Amino acid sequence: MHLAIIMDGNGRWAKKRGLKRVEGHKKGAEVVKEITAYCANSPEIKILTLYAFSTENWKRPKMETDFLMKLLENWLKKELETYIKNDVKFEVIGDISKFFPKLRKRIEYTKETTKNNKRLTQVLALNYGGRDEITRAVKKIIKKNEEITQENIQKNLDINEDVDLLIRTSGEIRVSNFLLWQIAYAEMFFTPTLWPDFTSRELEQILNNFKKRQRRFGGI
Ligand code: FPP
Repeated sequence: MHLAIIMDGNGRWAKKRGLKRVEGHKKGAEVVKEITAYCANSPEIKILTLYAFSTENWKRPKMETDFLMKLLENWLKKELETYIKNDVKFEVIGDISKFFPKLRKRIEYTKETTKNNKRLTQVLALNYGGRDEITRAVKKIIKKNEEITQENIQKNLDINEDVDLLIRTSGEIRVSNFLLWQIAYAEMFFTPTLWPDFTSRELEQILNNFKKRQRRFGGI
């Protein structure tokens, strides 16, 4: 199955504790590690897509966006071992062409080093927006002079696999431009837990609940 998560609430988690917002992101990165390890050990989860940075996040103060970029770079460096140990393949969706060259290199290196890993594919959505992804897909098709069909649009997206389960933390009940095409038939789950407080135990409960839901894909 393809599990997608909107990791929301880092800022509020930090504020509640009288900490700077960036402390929430740091704790959030630790949760990414725990949840990825859990998914790698779960035989049914094949893809885990995480919303780490949206096309709208550039509206934040430069200090915070710079921090997130640096955090990601250091994290990929530090966690490479874990990707290898847990047999996790690393991929990225979104337009990273405007990221610092050093971070882009680190992303490419991590992708290349983990490309044959099999247990889980962890996909980070970076400078990602669903509308942007669909628009880029259609542009690619036009450039290749191919036919515009649903199948062809799906084939030209950054990620082709439909989402089975979408989780959003922090109590907001919205999709915020995440995987708009791929969530067409996804089950959705919204939890009030802030991302830095999210645990593999809570994920397990959500997965158990998901298994009980009957998915009909438009049929009866
Ligand atoms: C949403 O919380 C979170 C983000 C915009 C960034 C997500 C980043 C991480 C979880 C850490 C870095 C990730 C990796 C893979 C190293 P928010 O800041 O919008 O929180 P708020 O809504 O409470 O302000």
